[in-house]
Amino acid sequence: MGRRAPPVHRRPETAAGRPPDAVAIRPATAGDEGFLRQLTAQAFGHLGPYEEWVASWLRDPRVGTSLVERAGQPAGFSMLVVGRSPTGERWVGDLLVLAVAPPHRRRGLGRALLEQAIEVCMLAGCGKVERWLELSVAADNEAARRLFERAGLAAVDVPTSSYPNGQRSIRLRRALT
Ligand SMILES: CC(C)(COP(=O)(O)OP(=O)(O)OC[C@H]1O[C@@H](n2cnc3c(N)ncnc32)[C@H](O)[C@@H]1OP(=O)(O)O)[C@@H](O)C(=O)NCCC(=O)NCCS
Repeated sequence: MGRRAPPVHRRPETAAGRPPDAVAIRPATAGDEGFLRQLTAQAFGHLGPYEEWVASWLRDPRVGTSLVERAGQPAGFSMLVVGRSPTGERWVGDLLVLAVAPPHRRRGLGRALLEQAIEVCMLAGCGKVERWLELSVAADNEAARRLFERAGLAAVDVPTSSYPNGQRSIRLRRALT
């Protein structure tokens, strides 16, 4: 499957001059596991055993985990695995998880994490290879669907699938050029 996505750092401000709600994205570390577990349980606990999956993906070298901080505090994260499609002709980024903690929502952090995932996918492969970003989202998750659709992801015509607890999921995709 995929190779580890290259880490992307965004630290536009220096620590000394950082405004109170400065946003920075950095690679997550083992020390972030408690935050990841807590937010996962809150955001995805109703869908299935995501807390355990996220803990295991954090240790998986194929999965790139990015943490967004606001004012120096963890505020959200994403998990992305990038690899060649089974037939090898394109690179596909699968966004496994994207979540922002409730106090930090509607401030652009979800969009910032999504844009960073798109940048990582764009860097995958080389030459004129085709690249896609894909993800699954609960069919009734209006907030997330709006975020993703505004970023150009559209439903893919694949057989319906479900989360472990039975909620219907839909697959979204965007070709990256
Ligand atoms: C979905 C989620 C990641 C959005 O994070 P966020 O930081 O609040 O999103 P942003 O502030 O970047 O919003 C970007 C756009 O998404 C859409 N959006 C986000 N939250 C929304 C909401 N509650 N209702 C409607 N649209 C919403 C809007 O179009 C928004 O743009 P706007 O603010 O200019 O209108 C966050 O609500 C979340 O973590 N939810 C729980 C986990 C989840 O569902 N993850 C996605 C599935 S993997």
